[in-house]
Amino acid sequence: PPRSTPKPSSAASDVYKRQLLETLRYVLALTGSKQGCDKGDCGACTVILDGAPTLACLTPVWEAEGSAVTTVEGLAGPEGPHPLQDEFDLNGAAQCGFCTPGILCSAAVLLDKTSNPTRLEIQEALAGNLCRCTGYAKIYDAVEAAAIRMEERKERGGQSVDPT
Ligand code: FES
Ligand code: FES
Repeated sequence: PPRSTPKPSSAASDVYKRQLLETLRYVLALTGSKQGCDKGDCGACTVILDGAPTLACLTPVWEAEGSAVTTVEGLAGPEGPHPLQDEFDLNGAAQCGFCTPGILCSAAVLLDKTSNPTRLEIQEALAGNLCRCTGYAKIYDAVEAAAIRMEERKERGGQSVDPT
């Protein structure tokens, strides 16, 4: 006879019902993704799920099963920080920094898909990420500068470009 799937223990099923954000922060200790409104309004919890910006506070962990999840902790590569991270630093695009991890994830998806985004495309890509501190202009500047840096990196065959 066909074997039935074993029922998860209640502890395991509780974990399974958690939101992805809780699992990242409180089970896996990946606290880069921030818990702001916890209801889909602020974008502070944005992660990259199978290449798309995703609100981790509204995503049950079971929905992420089998998917690739990238948080801000995973944006840097072997060659160093992500160009966005360097440019946020150089442009003073983070103040309190609470919104920054989510914005970096949304912007990273944009730059993966669009090598030379317009200001409007950047604004649209970040429309779901609220920032109380910066007034956004420096954030948009930083994303534009990162796009240029990524193009330069491609032209140099993937080698890192010294930000200084
Ligand atoms: Fe998820 Fe605000 S914490 S949108
Ligand atoms: Fe403080 Fe954006 S830097 S909320």
